[in-house]
Amino acid sequence: MLEFIHLVGLGMALNSRTIMVNILCSPDGAACGAIRDNPENPDYAASGSIRATAYGWSFPSSSLGTSNYKILKRSTSKASSMTILNNPNNLNHLIEDCLYYEYTKAADPVGSGAIPQIPLVEFSSELHEMGSTRIIPLDISDTLACKGPATSPALCANFVRILAWEALSTNFNATSLLFYVMRGSGYTEFEGINIPWKTGDFVVLPMGEETRHFAVADSVFYLVHDEPLLRYLGVKADIQRFKPTLYTSEDSLRELERVRKEAEAVNRNRISVLLANKVMDQTLTVTHTLWAMLGVLPKGAAQLPHRHQSVALDLILDCDPGCYTLVGAKISEKGEIINATRVDWKPYSAFITPPGYWHAHYNQSSSDAHLIPIQDAGLQTYLRSLDIKFVEK
Ligand SMILES: [Fe+2]
Repeated sequence: MLEFIHLVGLGMALNSRTIMVNILCSPDGAACGAIRDNPENPDYAASGSIRATAYGWSFPSSSLGTSNYKILKRSTSKASSMTILNNPNNLNHLIEDCLYYEYTKAADPVGSGAIPQIPLVEFSSELHEMGSTRIIPLDISDTLACKGPATSPALCANFVRILAWEALSTNFNATSLLFYVMRGSGYTEFEGINIPWKTGDFVVLPMGEETRHFAVADSVFYLVHDEPLLRYLGVKADIQRFKPTLYTSEDSLRELERVRKEAEAVNRNRISVLLANKVMDQTLTVTHTLWAMLGVLPKGAAQLPHRHQSVALDLILDCDPGCYTLVGAKISEKGEIINATRVDWKPYSAFITPPGYWHAHYNQSSSDAHLIPIQDAGLQTYLRSLDIKFVEK
């Protein structure tokens, strides 16, 4: 068997960019080929064969436009690699973006203001109550100093309005998409299947091609996806991590009623169900990035504060005046939120609870209220960074 020698080196493409090349040479040095590691890169066209003169391993000419290789070591072992440095003059662009901060100057970019804190923002139901079929992103990307639309660094929440007998397409570069049907009915066409939905249903979709939503009655969704996370990472969603799932109104409300009876039996502070997918058997969440909850806040309820490092994009469903959330960065020794901001609940409106902020829900009305927080807690749980804490009685 003919063994080739594998070298890894830096080459210069015809457009003067430095590229990584894999070089295979025959043992007698008569034939060498240079192969880019990523053929889809536009620079690939600039790479080509190079020739070695002999065992001296100099490369006098090359269609890569490269010269002055310096060989640090070499091996004839099939599995080993050889390091080659190109002309030191060509390293300038490799170091021109490097920075070195003294530790205390960069240890807390949020605290120093280098990256903005996530704000508490409210989004009124008026945004989706009128008008044509459309997507209404709850976009605060300017405040977050990131590309948009984005409601948090990793997530984008939207109101989606579809008039009866009209259709709307979505095509996000997202690993996970969840929508709750605030009102209406219809179906969603996703990769050859039709998913029916109606008021109170949750539909959860993995990455996919263009998705079409058809309404048979005036319909409004609360739709959250994780495209901002992928945009930040600079990646394209490629693999479906779960299959499409439908959490019907009947099933979710039945489960909520079941835990409510349990809560009343054991005097539990929170009455909620977490939507989960069998595939997510480590994070116990609705997708590997998203976390979703359906909760009831009974009349007269006053929750003790809690906090978590996931952001919460909270949707309020039904509520009467007197329902509100207190939010604040710090908590007293008595377990009360210091300098709390009060967010009064309004039906089918949304608000952002920033990560790390203490928050507690109160219902001083004479009717039960319901809420649906959507969080990036699937991701945070997997990273072991959720850091959820509760004030105990
Ligand atoms: Fe929370």
